[in-house]
Amino acid sequence: MTVVPTEQEILESLKVVIDPELRRSIVELEMVRSIAVSDNGVVDVTVSLTTAGCPIRGHFQTSVAQAVSALEGVSHVNVFFDVLSDSEKMALQQKLGRGGLPDGALAQVANVICVGSGKGGVGKSTLTANLAAALAGAGKRVGILDADVWGYSIPRMYGLGATRPPVSAQRKIVPLESHGVKVMSIGFFVEEDAAVVWRGPMLHKALSQFLQDVEWGMLDYLLIDLPPGTGDVSMTLAQLLPQAQFVIVTTPQPTSQKVARRAGEMAHKVNLEICGVIENMSGFMTPTGERYQIFGEGGGQELADELDVPLLGKVPLTIPLREHSDGGTPLVIEDPDDPAAQAIDQAARGLIAATPMSLPVLSVQDSSPAPAAPAAPAGMSLPMA
Ligand SMILES: Nc1ncnc2c1ncn2[C@@H]1O[C@H](COP(=O)(O)OP(=O)(O)OP(=O)(O)O)[C@@H](O)[C@H]1O
Ligand SMILES: [Mg+2]
Repeated sequence: MTVVPTEQEILESLKVVIDPELRRSIVELEMVRSIAVSDNGVVDVTVSLTTAGCPIRGHFQTSVAQAVSALEGVSHVNVFFDVLSDSEKMALQQKLGRGGLPDGALAQVANVICVGSGKGGVGKSTLTANLAAALAGAGKRVGILDADVWGYSIPRMYGLGATRPPVSAQRKIVPLESHGVKVMSIGFFVEEDAAVVWRGPMLHKALSQFLQDVEWGMLDYLLIDLPPGTGDVSMTLAQLLPQAQFVIVTTPQPTSQKVARRAGEMAHKVNLEICGVIENMSGFMTPTGERYQIFGEGGGQELADELDVPLLGKVPLTIPLREHSDGGTPLVIEDPDDPAAQAIDQAARGLIAATPMSLPVLSVQDSSPAPAAPAAPAGMSLPMA
């Protein structure tokens, strides 16, 4: 009786088969769908391709047959092909740390966090602006991408006018810096209140430029302020940034929660991880410290429970939070004792605890003084492969 190799031995032998485009072994890329060995030494290997009409099919055919034939006891090798499903492709892109952006873009950004909600006016931009300032205050390197191309508001909240950002020697756009945070917004490029009517491919192009042509440098956090809803921008960003995570902003009342849930469903659909919920307008706090539950209670906790993620904070309505947003300095900087500022600061700490701090591969090259960071929680996976 001939001794035939085991499936494990065959898989081992396939490690030498490299995907020439992705430049990694098909075993590592989990593209070996199945292996079957029969007693007479005939081996069937099925390889999953990214597209049916993959031009490198022939390469796989030859290399797989060669690698397996070299094993003792193999009399013949049949190579079959199938195609990765959409979710497997997403997973592969996630593994490769990309999804539409070229290799290396944003490689120095440890965490990309999209701040979204199902509907408008719940305080996404206000929270993004203040969370960023709170993270910077905690010693993190932070950037904000204002992805609300139709209703940008971050420049105003950071006291930045329609100043055109400079272009570096490497022909990259240099983000403007304010309150220790790097900021990029379409608002820097258009006349005040000019309507931007981008959709579809133009929008995709604009957003990918903001991600790959902007010199973000080393960042611990890139916060992305999303426009309201679950539309074009969120979908595009999910495509471009499969490693991004989501923070969902909701208000305490049940109707808002329903739309916020839709944002959650969208995040799930495009495979983005949700790292937490923030409840905003969580009661009105008077200057004397009395609290009125204007919008009811409990919505944030309920949504967080439903999505099985932490409730990062409950931010009350306070007059100074609105005033400082309009005034161009985040409240957490000017009045950290305000109850809303305290709640946002706590949310920022929750976010730090829920996200890994740096890419170990890159931290070696990082010569800038890294702020003291709490250890990454055990068991967390890195956002990028
Ligand atoms: N906790 C709060 N206390 C006081 N004012 C707040 C609070 N949260 C938000 N606001 C105010 O509510 C208004 C809407 O907030 P913001 O623009 O941040 O919402 P948004 O969700 O980003 O809106 P859009 O969907 O239009 O982008 C702003 O005037 C802001 O100052
Ligand atoms: Mg907004």
